[in-house]
Amino acid sequence: MASNVERHINGKFAKERIFVLNSPTANKQTAESFISQAMDIIVDEAVKKATDVQEKVCEWHAPEQLKKLLDLELRDEGEAESEILQRCRDAIRYSVKTSHPRFFNQLYAGMEPYSMVASFIAEAIKTNLYTYEVAPVFTLMEDAVLRKMIKVIGWEEGGDGIFNPGGSLSNMYAVNLARYRYCPNFKEAGMFSAQRLVILTSQESHYSISKGAALMGIGTKNVYTVPTDERGRMIPSALEDKIMLAKSEGAVPFMVNATAGTTVLGAFDPIDEISDICEKHNLWLHVDACWGGAALMSKKHKHLLKGIHRVDSVSWNPHKMLMASLQCSAFLVRDKTSLLQRCHSARASYLFQQDKFYDISYDTGDKSVQCSRKPDAFKFWLMWKALGTRELEQRVERALAMARYLAEEIKKRDGFRLVVEPEYANVCFWYLPPSLRNLPDGPELWKKLHTVAPVVKQRMMKTGSMMVGYQPLGDKANFFRMVVISPQVSRQDLDFVLDEIHSLGKDL
Ligand SMILES: Cc1ncc(COP(=O)(O)O)c(C=O)c1O
Repeated sequence: MASNVERHINGKFAKERIFVLNSPTANKQTAESFISQAMDIIVDEAVKKATDVQEKVCEWHAPEQLKKLLDLELRDEGEAESEILQRCRDAIRYSVKTSHPRFFNQLYAGMEPYSMVASFIAEAIKTNLYTYEVAPVFTLMEDAVLRKMIKVIGWEEGGDGIFNPGGSLSNMYAVNLARYRYCPNFKEAGMFSAQRLVILTSQESHYSISKGAALMGIGTKNVYTVPTDERGRMIPSALEDKIMLAKSEGAVPFMVNATAGTTVLGAFDPIDEISDICEKHNLWLHVDACWGGAALMSKKHKHLLKGIHRVDSVSWNPHKMLMASLQCSAFLVRDKTSLLQRCHSARASYLFQQDKFYDISYDTGDKSVQCSRKPDAFKFWLMWKALGTRELEQRVERALAMARYLAEEIKKRDGFRLVVEPEYANVCFWYLPPSLRNLPDGPELWKKLHTVAPVVKQRMMKTGSMMVGYQPLGDKANFFRMVVISPQVSRQDLDFVLDEIHSLGKDL
């Protein structure tokens, strides 16, 4: 702590701050008491209440109103403990409860207790995952989780990988690694050393591929989009056409991104056929399995990713379908020649000293583009330990069975129409209010239908009863996308969603 004393300095009296230096000034008891009170709030409000189906999913306020409610200004003096605890409650209260059984808005949902506790531990221990020296436990856990994921993918010879903050970054790792494999000189010489490089990806793929191309100097115009079939899957013959097109232009295609579980429709590109084409043209094949990778856990559904053992790299987010706490995302690579390390290493001598007293192969941080890195693999490791592979498999199979139930319900109900038969946990559908049901199929119907989902969405947010996403896709008018993930969801919740959409939109 500091106290102000008056001193005679340069002929004037002035206030000077005197600090206590001969003992700690942070009050341990105060900190501990605050943390345990806050933990009680977290359990009551962010766990029990946030997952209670009787409670709201969200308490909607417009930004200006919410700014006032939160009193965001940061002042010179700190606030009392009771006020700070109230701020904790408010932060929870006004946040969207993504672990609520009626949150279907995104590709993550539900409450995963083991993973959540792992997050708490990681925050409390405040580990930084770059060297074995500072992160002995989590270094080994990350290694164990990556090895297991590599086995599930089916890379018999092993491989390598790294956890990183999100699937977008995982996909960018793939772009960087594919380019490094193609032109190792690039790392040092930069883009002046390369020809025009081209990435191929389907029109339904995630936007992170384009962002990665922009970030890495490849350019978004050099991402060639490959058409998809009626279910959103890449058409292999169209891929080959685009490869030939790039070559005929004098450009160099170097990488194909296939998606296992597209963001909107949940489609799976045919990996085996795409692999054949990549082998023929010597292209790096990356699979963005951020969303659909979870199907690999299920004997029944892993056929969706048939051929994945042949690919060069995979992005897989346990924070999506497998429900690990955010963020938990792995980038995995089949290479065994330390390509990941060579591509990204900067060999900082203050961190990765070569003369350490232990096996420095456990200092994995230089494979990463980050310096500070969270021990995200721990969240997956603890839940996998607690649930076992079998329970993870059952979760995936139950989620897909629930999605199937919802699709069948949609087919039975008046005014509901599926966009495509779901292959995975994305159920995409239109809701037609009674006023549109007798209109003939044509531009007028689709124009009117396009306006329905945004109004229903606005009403559901203001009511706070549930959250379901909507979007247009290509020439398709706005439709709802339900994403079924969590074992806390029951059939009644899915019935509720359809009833509620009807009751919110029947007057439109
Ligand atoms: C197919 C696919 N890939 C990548 C991502 C990006 O993942 P993240 O949100 O973890 O960056 C998403 C996000 O939804 C996705 O759907």
